[in-house]
Amino acid sequence: MILEFEPLSNNFGARLHGLDDGRVLDDGLIDELRSGLIENGVLLLRGQEISPARLVQLGRAFGELEILPEPDKRHPDHPEIFDLTNVRKDGAVVDFEEPQAVFLRGTERWHTDSSFREIPCLCTMLYALEVPESGGETQFANMYAAFKSLPTSLRNEIEDKKLVHSYVYSRANNPGRMDPMSPEEESKYPPVTHPWVRTHPDGRKSLYMGAHVSHVEGMDLNEGRALIQEVLAGATEERFVYQHVWQANDLVVWDNRSTLHRLRPYEITERRRVMHRVTVAGVDPVV
Ligand code: OGA
Ligand code: MN
Repeated sequence: MILEFEPLSNNFGARLHGLDDGRVLDDGLIDELRSGLIENGVLLLRGQEISPARLVQLGRAFGELEILPEPDKRHPDHPEIFDLTNVRKDGAVVDFEEPQAVFLRGTERWHTDSSFREIPCLCTMLYALEVPESGGETQFANMYAAFKSLPTSLRNEIEDKKLVHSYVYSRANNPGRMDPMSPEEESKYPPVTHPWVRTHPDGRKSLYMGAHVSHVEGMDLNEGRALIQEVLAGATEERFVYQHVWQANDLVVWDNRSTLHRLRPYEITERRRVMHRVTVAGVDPVV
């Protein structure tokens, strides 16, 4: 073992030691990183200045990187890096209702990234450049532990059910106002179904749900949505949550296969929050 994983809270998440800046990411180290992520759900690397090139390298240790569709949010030298920030190109902080702010506020709902895709992404990395003095934390919830703790009756009820995930739905339900999508745009995001309970290669099971979920397949719409709310409320109880309080130079990686996350509110029109985001593509369908 080259790396050390120091538990964060509730047996969930770990701070990473031994990954100094110059460390070559050879196969042994990559294996430890990948299994460390699966084991811990969330990894924190603290107090290291990470260049954009190194960030891309670290991302590639976990898999292929996605290039997100908005060209103006990409890093000029590294298109794999997405600028996740409430600071506009002109240097001013956003207004509450402008699209950039509404998009960011959308992440205040519990979700797992790109679950509306047939093959959702594997993990996401955020590297903090500037963080607000208060607010703007990120919370993560452990969906292995949440599944395990479900009352047997509830577990039996959902075990063979599938959820319909839809970007069109989650966008329409964003807490801020977003321009409606054209039918042409909508057709790029057909709804997909994934099992509510996913089984991982090691046999463990976790809940797979969140804000992109529209409804339970084959169930009365309202009854299904009530069931989703019930399960989500239990799954995101404090005992399953790690709350990350950001410091500049923190790098956090989370496993989208087995965790939910959400941004906590902050004074988005006053305080600067600037992050570099890297998304690692998924490889396997959700089973
Ligand atoms: C994301 C996300 C939360 C945050 O980048 O996918 O949900 O705290 N971010 O910025
Ligand atoms: Mn997210």
